Amino acid sequence: MDKELNIALPKGRLGEQAYALLRDAGLECPALNDPGRRLIFTNREKGVNYFWVKPSDVAIYVERGAADLGIAGKDILNEYAPNVYELQDLGIGRCRMAVAAPEGFRDDRRVPLKVATKFVRCARRHYAAKGRDIDIIHLNGSVEIAPILGLSDVIVDIVETGTTLRENRLAVIEEVFPISARLIANKASYQFKEERIVRLTAALAARKGENA
Ligand code: PRP
Repeated sequence: MDKELNIALPKGRLGEQAYALLRDAGLECPALNDPGRRLIFTNREKGVNYFWVKPSDVAIYVERGAADLGIAGKDILNEYAPNVYELQDLGIGRCRMAVAAPEGFRDDRRVPLKVATKFVRCARRHYAAKGRDIDIIHLNGSVEIAPILGLSDVIVDIVETGTTLRENRLAVIEEVFPISARLIANKASYQFKEERIVRLTAALAARKGENA
């Protein structure tokens, strides 16, 4: 039982893609094909339990040892800096953190720049490195609306296809960092279950090589 692997998956499309990689690396769990409203899925034969959690919570489960492994976006890892091992870039969930502004935006450096974002630390770090004073407005979603309503000058947010920006007449003015999903591990679990975890990362890397 103690060598079972407990894996936190981010609920949604990224979690489904991540599960497909883990399944192909030998950790299938048929119960996940028909999840319904359940959140815990077990395959005793393979010695694996999957937890279906909110994407922004994956790192918390892993950091505190409720899960041995998890799949988390680089955005979450940069924002919360959890005390976990980052084992592998899975090459899925690719997008970017960017600064976006309304068309025709001009920065007036005499006043603090009003920045709306869900990613307060990422935004602070970005502007601190540039020596630009900012006034952070912490929102929880639909950030694109903030500049339209005059709540902020710019936003710092995730851009994937760019559709949300375009449809709200915003454009990227700066890249902050590229994002992809990472396999993360609890530090104690990594010691206790090292053999299984190393085998899994090797299988994932091999498959990534095949698909490259
Ligand atoms: C994310 C992000 C952008 C959008 C970007 O929002 O915050 O709003 O996706 O994707 P696109 O470039 O493909 O349009 P999410 O759907 O997570 O919802 P949120 O607004 O609640 O953050």
